[in-house]
Amino acid sequence: MTHRYVMSVDQGTTSTRCILFDARGRLVSVVQREHQQHFPRPGWVEHDAAEIWRNLARLMPEALARAGASAEQIVGLGIANQRETTVLWDRRTGAPIGRAIVWQDTRTDRVVEQLTREPGAKRVRELCGLPLATYFSAPKIRWLLDQTPGLPERAECGEVLFGTTESWLIWNLTGGLHITDVTNASRTMLMNLRTLSWDDELLDFFGIPRAMLPEIRSSTEVYGTTTTVVPGIRIAAALGDQQAALFGQTCFAPGEAKCTYGTGSFLLLNTGQTPVRSAHGMLTTVGFKIGAEPAVYALEGSIAVTGSLVQWLRDSLELIGTAPEIETLARTVADNGGCYIVPAFSGLFAPHWHSEARGVIAGLTSYITKGHLARAVLEATGWQTREVVDAMNADSGLALSTLRVDGGMTANNLLMQIVADVLDVPVVRPMVAETVSLGAAYAAGLSVGYWPDLEGLRRNWHRAGQWQPTMAQARREAEYVNWRQAVELTFGWMR
Ligand code: G3P
Repeated sequence: MTHRYVMSVDQGTTSTRCILFDARGRLVSVVQREHQQHFPRPGWVEHDAAEIWRNLARLMPEALARAGASAEQIVGLGIANQRETTVLWDRRTGAPIGRAIVWQDTRTDRVVEQLTREPGAKRVRELCGLPLATYFSAPKIRWLLDQTPGLPERAECGEVLFGTTESWLIWNLTGGLHITDVTNASRTMLMNLRTLSWDDELLDFFGIPRAMLPEIRSSTEVYGTTTTVVPGIRIAAALGDQQAALFGQTCFAPGEAKCTYGTGSFLLLNTGQTPVRSAHGMLTTVGFKIGAEPAVYALEGSIAVTGSLVQWLRDSLELIGTAPEIETLARTVADNGGCYIVPAFSGLFAPHWHSEARGVIAGLTSYITKGHLARAVLEATGWQTREVVDAMNADSGLALSTLRVDGGMTANNLLMQIVADVLDVPVVRPMVAETVSLGAAYAAGLSVGYWPDLEGLRRNWHRAGQWQPTMAQARREAEYVNWRQAVELTFGWMR
């Protein structure tokens, strides 16, 4: 019998991955390529969209070859992607216009500051569920339009197109289909959360022409068939990567939550079919939309810098040679020695939303060693998770009883213990830690009937690790006070 697989693409911030999954949700082949990070000025982060596309064009045939499979054996392709990152391209030539502005980029802080003072600013959050911040796509599009003479006119007549990276890849895979899914659209600041369509008031507010925007579609449906690279594969799902992880962790019911630890970390709580407004700095976003069914919403606590702080320790400070070495280094000391690192490299996201905040290392004395710094780097992820969980609990009126985690950083056992300790709840990791890819595969498989229903997917979820809190209450709360003081130091920083 010929085996059939689902193909999943995870177009992330630092790399693109292509994985084939079998019907039991097991990985059959995995290939991955990193793309270059461009930091042309402080606060600026760019990607070359053409490089990302070239990477995918090599990865798809490689993934098939590794499994000894052909395109006919692929039942469908699901794409998950870094969200908000803004790509503009020329409709006629298909060439990107400049580099993509990455979600972490803070160059739009002045644009955001100006917009905040405009009369329509108060309505923005009401309409799209997001606070005005550099993180989202709309200010980035505005900035790009303002920079290049003639670009607004070309965008107005649909010669210049916008998309997040799934939209860019689908365009290239199909030779010109311009669509996005509703979860990605919900991160642009241009979609109305209730109608799930582009909103005229928001388009006016940001001065963005409708003609440059993709058509908004469900997260699971067959959008089209690939005509390039590996022709004949149905593109059956697309989701923002964090929403894909929610799906991959099978958080299908209201009240279920997960946190994905990657370059940044993102805690999403399924809130069911009604968007819940946050009073504590969480985002209201679309969790997923299965075909013609109503959308399922989520509250999200986004943390901009977690894994990328470890990368910074490795690549910029060169204190470690590889990311996993941080655990060994942090274990050389018993505690942080009084040192706290608040990595506000992209301002501070949830629950603060201070675009102008900049990072600090607080509590430095000559006692501090690189071991303490490594420990403070890991603890920064723990305390940032704590801030988000506290805000989420306050919004939902419920206390989180366990935290489901996934993503690359969850391989760090010391970090998982720190997270359990600072939250005072057990932390649980599933067997498949590639949850973003798995979620995109689940969505595509569901879309084409490879998996019949959500219950079947739930049966594939298996626990692989669990950490119990061990920290004394008094110490936890005392350290949390120190952390919050260090956070205060990042605000209103001089530039
Ligand atoms: O919102 C940004 C997020 O989607 C990026 O995720 O895993 O690519 O860093 P990741």
